Amino acid sequence: MLLSRKQLLHPHSYTTCYCFHALVYQARSRACITAAAANTAEATSAVAAPPPKPGAPKQCARVLFVGGLPGAVDPDVLQQQLAAACSQWHPTRVEVARFEEESVRSRFAAGWQHKGHAAIAFTSEDDLAAAAAAVQQLAADDWQVAAVVGPARKPPPHWPPELTLTPQELQEVQQQQAAAALRRAHNKRQRDRRQQRLIDSVSSLLTGLSPPAGLAAAQQYQPLLGQRLQQQLLQQHQQHQQQLEQAADLQLTSSSTGGSSSVLCATDLVDQLMAAMPDPLRFAIQVDKLQQLLQTQQQQQGPGLIRLAAAPSVVAVEQQLLLDWSLLPAVVDPAFGGQLADADVVRAGAGRMNLRALRKRVQVESFMLLLLQLTLPALKANAHLHIVEFGSGSGNLVLPLAHLFPCFTLTAVDMKASAITLLRQRVQQGQMHNVRVQEGTIELYSGAADVVLALHACGAASDWSLAQAAARSAAFIVSPCCIGKVNKSNTAGLFYRQDGSKRQQADQAAAAQVQQALQQTGQIQYPRSHWLKQQMDELAAKVKAEQQQQQQQQQDASPLGTPAADPAGHTLLAQQQQQQQQQQPLSPLQQAVLQSGSRTEQCRALFSLMAQAADYSHQEDHSYPDLAALAKSNVELDRGLSMAEAGYSTALVRLLQPELTAKADVLLGLPAAGARQVTAAGSASSAFSWVWA
Ligand SMILES: C[S@@+](CC[C@H](N)C(=O)[O-])C[C@H]1O[C@@H](n2cnc3c(N)ncnc32)[C@H](O)[C@@H]1O
Repeated sequence: MLLSRKQLLHPHSYTTCYCFHALVYQARSRACITAAAANTAEATSAVAAPPPKPGAPKQCARVLFVGGLPGAVDPDVLQQQLAAACSQWHPTRVEVARFEEESVRSRFAAGWQHKGHAAIAFTSEDDLAAAAAAVQQLAADDWQVAAVVGPARKPPPHWPPELTLTPQELQEVQQQQAAAALRRAHNKRQRDRRQQRLIDSVSSLLTGLSPPAGLAAAQQYQPLLGQRLQQQLLQQHQQHQQQLEQAADLQLTSSSTGGSSSVLCATDLVDQLMAAMPDPLRFAIQVDKLQQLLQTQQQQQGPGLIRLAAAPSVVAVEQQLLLDWSLLPAVVDPAFGGQLADADVVRAGAGRMNLRALRKRVQVESFMLLLLQLTLPALKANAHLHIVEFGSGSGNLVLPLAHLFPCFTLTAVDMKASAITLLRQRVQQGQMHNVRVQEGTIELYSGAADVVLALHACGAASDWSLAQAAARSAAFIVSPCCIGKVNKSNTAGLFYRQDGSKRQQADQAAAAQVQQALQQTGQIQYPRSHWLKQQMDELAAKVKAEQQQQQQQQQDASPLGTPAADPAGHTLLAQQQQQQQQQQPLSPLQQAVLQSGSRTEQCRALFSLMAQAADYSHQEDHSYPDLAALAKSNVELDRGLSMAEAGYSTALVRLLQPELTAKADVLLGLPAAGARQVTAAGSASSAFSWVWA
């Protein structure tokens, strides 16, 4: 198959400007590359023919591009062979392109040692032409793949241009570079201005909300061990004491918050937790670390905003792990079974973890600790619970939990076929009898659930998980993910956009399921809580009133209609002023209010503004992290408050080692007393009813 000219010159083709690079990257298979290579001469002329587009990089006639090189061959060996093959034409430089640090892992795992292309510079075009034929021959003889050979449009960026360009060409390139730098600076200024306007708008939005949200939201965070849970533990502890008449065994300390509520001291808490732990968990947990953690938490005064660590240290993170992960089967460990560790560590079965694997382990530990506390009464009573994880992916949370809590049944639900296949393989490999796997959407889940879990289920998937918990009066532990997708998910399901984007094409069946779910269950509306809706309503009214007042002031200040000594001059001044004001664009906050129709739309637009600022992740070098964290805590608070309005006791807590991720918020919920008696058909396990009653 010969690639068409359109494919070769596609504007989205590889931007570092090797003409044949496009060819390689457009070719989807080895067969394609080989076939294209067979037609190299034709392809070369196809590339050379069209007139250069304005701003297109200049063709560099003295740099030869070689593509389609065998990825598994050592790049140094390739480099030597290329240099030797064209040595008689005196190349000034030969270079095989290598991976940058961050892109190495996936390609390396797939057996690639370099990027599969090289560039060779010559002093004349004649030399290049002659060398091209030799390299083509070499490729055919030695590497069993046909290389793609042709002149590059531009030398690689890190090559000094004077090595390959004439003085005139060099001057042109320098002019182009200067123009590009100017363009970049202009774009950056515009981006900064837009960002500043967003920051200003979101700041005034948050300032406009009254407690417990707005700027006070950060104070809503509670230690990982929620107050309500502590009190529940305390009550049980007291009952236990009375029954056994062994008051001296356990001590109580007063709560730092004062009043009638009191909490258990860390040692007693650890004892309680240890006594109830199922065996695999009891063996794997590092008791001293648990005790230390609970002690630190009890001493803390309101954790405040989550601040991300600039460069978290792997060693420090490892030292704080609660579990001894070497005691868990490799297949359930996100690092090995989930293959989050680097390829060499996975292969060797040991070694230093990377942060990605450690982050997931820390998330699993956080859920483990919360689940343990939440289900403590059931564990003590040997009651069997049904736990459902929504958006399980390939099982990095559900599998270690299923191993640590063999007394519970865990169901994993996800709509992504590839993730479910991998999860099923892991379940089979680990011979896990307490795990059920269900491919499908969260929205359409109709099975039982005593406790709902969701870890970083994207956008509205977290809200669907909460809705599913509410429908069954199930307890929940939900750590929400990105929020920017909230608007998309509101119209067409989470990942699936109605515009026919590639994700939708990738899985039409799942898209159809989401659409069906939306028809059946309705949409998730934002803000979630009546409380925030009301607040945003008030804010919208305030913004409108301010705008009207401003307009009135402008009219009043206008000299039109007032007696003027110099009428012509006044009119001109007034017109200029009016023009200036008209030219000043509305702030994002004003846009949200003034350009939305109904009050519901205004509320949603204000919420979207907040969600937009809240959407940040640990990969970004964020320029307003505090504001983003604050906006995120408000979004989560809104979710929590909506569940509180549905009768839940909720707490906003944080993952362990929260500085590791921007998505460290966790919503914790216990259904109202007695709510378990009213359950969705077939979903309540009778043993669980008494737990929360
Ligand atoms: C970021 S992954 C998290 C996976 C896993 N919980 C973990 O932390 O390793 C989010 C998962 O949610 C799934 N998901 C998102 N929306 C969903 C929906 N509406 N129904 C089912 N699964 C969904 C995605 O397919 C994806 O596998």
